[in-house]
Amino acid sequence: MYRYVGNISDLSHYIIKDFVLNKEVAIDATLGNGYDTDFLSSLFKKVYTFDIQKEACDNYSANKKDNVEVINDSHHLFKKYINEKVDCIMYNLGFLPGGDKSITTLHKTSLKSIKEGLEILKNGGIMTICIYRGHSEGKIEESCILEYLKTLPKNQFGVMVQTYLNRQEISPLLVVIEKK
Ligand SMILES: C[S@@+](CC[C@H](N)C(=O)[O-])C[C@H]1O[C@@H](n2cnc3c(N)ncnc32)[C@H](O)[C@@H]1O
Repeated sequence: MYRYVGNISDLSHYIIKDFVLNKEVAIDATLGNGYDTDFLSSLFKKVYTFDIQKEACDNYSANKKDNVEVINDSHHLFKKYINEKVDCIMYNLGFLPGGDKSITTLHKTSLKSIKEGLEILKNGGIMTICIYRGHSEGKIEESCILEYLKTLPKNQFGVMVQTYLNRQEISPLLVVIEKK
C-alpha cells in the first residue's frame, strides 16, 4: 500500500488539511455518500454540501453534524445559497460508486460551478477537483475543465494537476487550484 500515491481523494484531503490555513467555511460540491463532507466538517467551522440526488441529501441529513448545511440542488447555483466567501471547495466529479451511473456530473454545470467557485473563493483558499475520465462525460469534463484552467492568470491562481503515469491512460486526475 502506498503512503502518498494511493488515491486522489485521500490526497485532496491531505492537501486541504495542510495547506488551507483559515478553516472557516468550506463547500463540498458533490456530497454523494458524504465522505468528503464528513472530512470537511471535522476541520471547518461551517460546511455547505450540494447534491442533485435527493436520496443522497436525505441519507446524509439523517445523521449530519450541526455545522453542515445540506443543499439538494446543483452546484452551479452556489451564489443562490451562499452569501459569503469560502476557504475551500471540493469536487469529486462523476457518478456515485455503487449508485446510478446515469446520474453524473456534466461538463457544462461543472464548469459553470468551478468558475463561480473561484469567484467566491477567498484569497489563500484552495479548490480541489477529482476528475474521473474513465467514462465518456468524464473525458469531456477533463478537456473542458483543463482548457479553462489553463487560461487563469498565473499571478492570481496557481493550478497543478496530478495523475498516475504508470497506470491506464484513463486513470483519475487531481487538480488543485490555490488562489493567491
Ligand atoms: C463521485 S460522487 C461524489 C462522492 C462524494 N464526494 C463522497 O464523498 O462520497 C458525485 C456526486 O455528484 C452528484 N452530482 C451530479 N451532478 C451534480 C450537480 N450538478 N450538483 C451537485 N451534485 C451533483 C451525484 O449525484 C453524485 O452523488
